[in-house]
Amino acid sequence: MEKNLKINQEIQEQQKIKAPIVEALKNAYDNPTYQFHIPGHTKGNAVYKEFKKLIGEKALSIDTTDEFDNLGTLHPATGPIAEAQELAAKAFGAKKTFFLLNGSTAGNLAIGMSLTKKGQKVIINRNCHRSALTGLMISGAEPVWICPSRIEDWSIWGSIEASKIEKALQENDNVGLVWITNPTYEGVVSDIKSISEVCKKYNVPLVVDEAHGCLWNFNPHLPQTALKLGADIVVHSLHKTGGSMSQSSMLHIAKDSIINPDNVEKALKLLHTTSPSLMLLASLDSARAVLESKSGQTMLERTIKNAKYLRSRLDNIPNLHQLKTSFGYMTDVTKVFIKIDGLSGKRLESILEIDYGIEVESASDVGVLILCNLGNKHSDFVYLADALEKIASANHKDIYYLENRKHMPMLEPQIKMSLRDAYYAEKETISKADAIGRISAEVIAECPPGISILLPGELITEAHMPYLNDYEELEVVK
Ligand SMILES: Cc1ncc(COP(=O)(O)O)c(C=O)c1O
Repeated sequence: MEKNLKINQEIQEQQKIKAPIVEALKNAYDNPTYQFHIPGHTKGNAVYKEFKKLIGEKALSIDTTDEFDNLGTLHPATGPIAEAQELAAKAFGAKKTFFLLNGSTAGNLAIGMSLTKKGQKVIINRNCHRSALTGLMISGAEPVWICPSRIEDWSIWGSIEASKIEKALQENDNVGLVWITNPTYEGVVSDIKSISEVCKKYNVPLVVDEAHGCLWNFNPHLPQTALKLGADIVVHSLHKTGGSMSQSSMLHIAKDSIINPDNVEKALKLLHTTSPSLMLLASLDSARAVLESKSGQTMLERTIKNAKYLRSRLDNIPNLHQLKTSFGYMTDVTKVFIKIDGLSGKRLESILEIDYGIEVESASDVGVLILCNLGNKHSDFVYLADALEKIASANHKDIYYLENRKHMPMLEPQIKMSLRDAYYAEKETISKADAIGRISAEVIAECPPGISILLPGELITEAHMPYLNDYEELEVVK
């Protein structure tokens, strides 16, 4: 009796939750046509056999682009795509949502291109993703760097203080935007409410790159999304933690935003492919449908429970340390940054991978980052905690990486030339050893985390060398 009730509730819920792109794609699949249009593999008929076996015939037969089969268009948004974007805006609490292909990178490029101008300044944290800077290189606006607090013994950036933003706003004229990354890659959270109050006081729009925080609107135990804290634009990498397919993201314009969405849309139209993958768009539609469904919320609760379980296991492992709220920073519980005494993060990463078949999100000089994801099972966390227990008790000694190689850029730039001018300047490629004292002409920001080591226009110094082990040569201004 109880089981029947549960099944009925699930059916009712499924009927209520809509995913228009998914439905349109299903309809196209169920009603095949004779195709004389792109993509030329025509439902997988012209695809390498092994690849077809691997990904399946069905996936290839729904690999299509907009314009065809009543699937709507992305620019301008029409049909099921427009409907799906509206549903996403509602679910995330935005005035308008744009689906992004080419990830949050596309969103950041569009923000830089549409909302900043040559000669303007943009107050931005140094640990921003390189895509935000590419946006500025397109427009010609110049960054005014904010260096967040540092958590030295973890070799990571901490939060951004509103007082630093206010000081930069007082000291600079012609500021086009304040652009903040929140949370950091490792899950450190800044006080966006205070930052947005400062921005409102100076009437400067606030962009929050919330690439790593797209789940926040869906559970009260996670930090609050910037969409509710006064930001004007928020970018979310749904593919990172929100359950959509790789490369698919969203850009939201907040309800009370002072920004005109049309300007952003015009830039997106120019930056996006003219053949958007319906599969990726459908995956955004379906990720949103899951997140706002009862079952999705249960899944997220389970994820948070799993993260807490992992953290409680880690608390009991001698020699292992985890970054957590008690360190004085707000954090996202699902991002677990750990270190083990005597081991570099890189070495710990390789022990986990080689000896235990565990792949973590990333490793730095000091620690490794574990993401507790919607798709992980409880048994995954048991296995991981057991492995870490064994590794931490093995008394490893490895300080090589700590002394010779650095992975998380923690440098304050010495700016000698404008970002854009240096990028387009006449350049030469010279050996790394000769580059000290020269001006960089290239972006060096390895992924992950895509944070800049060197940018065009910045002086190359001895301090950069430990971050450049994989480089023989550098591109400098001639
Ligand atoms: C803070 C931040 N913003 C933007 C991006 C770019 O995201 P995507 O990979 O979705 O293009 C990343 C990627 O790691 C990121 O860390």
